[in-house]
Amino acid sequence: MNDNVNASFQFGMIGLGTMGRNLLLNMADNGFSVSGFDKNEKMVQLLESEGAEHHLKGYTDIHLFIAALQRPRKLILLVPAGPIVDSVIAELEPLLEQGDILIDSGNSYFGDTARRADALHQKGFHFFGMGISGGEEGARFGPSLMPGGDKEAYQAVKPMLEAVSAKVNGAPCVSYIGPGASGHFVKMTHNGIEYAIMELLAETYDILKNGMGYDNNQMAALFEKWNTGRLNAFLMEITAEVFRFRDEETGAMLLDQIKDEARSKGTGKWTSQIAMDLEVPIPVIDAAVSQRNLSKLKGLRVGLSASREDSASREGRTASTHLDLRDDELEAAFFFAMVSAYAQGIHLLAEASSQYGYQLQMAEIAKIWRGGCIIRASFLEDIYQAYLRQADLAHLFADRDIAQKLEKSLAAAKKVITQSLQGGLGIPAFAATLAYYESIHTARMSSNLTQAQRDLFGAHTFERLDREGIFHAHWKTNQA
Ligand code: 6PG
Repeated sequence: MNDNVNASFQFGMIGLGTMGRNLLLNMADNGFSVSGFDKNEKMVQLLESEGAEHHLKGYTDIHLFIAALQRPRKLILLVPAGPIVDSVIAELEPLLEQGDILIDSGNSYFGDTARRADALHQKGFHFFGMGISGGEEGARFGPSLMPGGDKEAYQAVKPMLEAVSAKVNGAPCVSYIGPGASGHFVKMTHNGIEYAIMELLAETYDILKNGMGYDNNQMAALFEKWNTGRLNAFLMEITAEVFRFRDEETGAMLLDQIKDEARSKGTGKWTSQIAMDLEVPIPVIDAAVSQRNLSKLKGLRVGLSASREDSASREGRTASTHLDLRDDELEAAFFFAMVSAYAQGIHLLAEASSQYGYQLQMAEIAKIWRGGCIIRASFLEDIYQAYLRQADLAHLFADRDIAQKLEKSLAAAKKVITQSLQGGLGIPAFAATLAYYESIHTARMSSNLTQAQRDLFGAHTFERLDREGIFHAHWKTNQA
């Protein structure tokens, strides 16, 4: 059989789960001829029924699927991150030809992407990692896309990526991120910021509910109001929807019936781990990751909560906790903390860019995060403008416009954070943003003491303000 006779599809998708199917349908909507492969017959049937009006086809036979693709073949992988990606690649390799293009669009660990890109490049295949954000809806109607690595391959698929991506003011939310595994690194960091903002929203919920006695409808109304101003963001919008949702079966507010144990798939944890490796402080993201872990210790929490001397359970404290806070102060505190979440994530990107040679353009990244992705927010326009003003800005806080806005919200942030802590609410992400803000604006920190201690007990040496060089003191002998 001459394969080319049947080779009618421009793009093939491997993995027809929700994300894969929706992205494929989006590609078909935009006039591309596409096919999909999945071992699961049901997924293939779903694709064909959902895409009945399009020129697309689903396969459970990998040979037929590959044979029906135009050459060089352009394949997108949307399978769960981890070893499955390696096994899919291993299965594909014997069926591919030199010059074929593979794009891994899952939430793969950037180190894995770098390894796979090297191995496949040596065999003559094009491979690049592409972060995709926006969930189900984004994939179907316009995600934010973060492709990095093989530029030649990117150029070959660029028109399709631009067509399917979200648009903000007509600009597509996709841009070539940089070399190596930069696409997946940027997506991982996006998720770290996502974790931080979700945690800040959860802490705001805690303050409003347990500190101020708001009910779900009042919180929904407040978040909806905030969503019309500078806090406008996808996560703000969907949180209001969550507050309003009633369970059809029980008639109760569904949020109140959901267990308080947050799961995760790893991208937030990776962000914190890498930040530690690169020595970049991202405490608000770290707090968000830790808080998900803490939430899973339900048994321990219940036990410790009952053993408190005043035996004040969380619910018990609610009645006695009355925080004297205004909505506008909470709004300002949230703004203050949200800026920190973005600033810390971008700081990590800047350091990764210099250490890994990613050549990241922060303005471009902010630009493509303005639409389609989970952390899209009006504030990304401010970040975009800040990096347009100065591409090599040392830190987001160094932009004068953003610095002024932060300074204006500082008093409210302090009030909200200190009152909440005093009122018995654990709000580690909010607290971390304030500590970070104060520390990073401190010209002389107290870390001279840390250096002195290290030198005293371990002769680890120190540097001096008054002279160049490395010093060690005989601490025991020169006591005043
Ligand atoms: C996105 C999301 C997406 C996914 C997260 C969830 O950008 O579209 O980030 O990638 O929803 O990975 O992560 P957790 O399960 O770890 O919360």
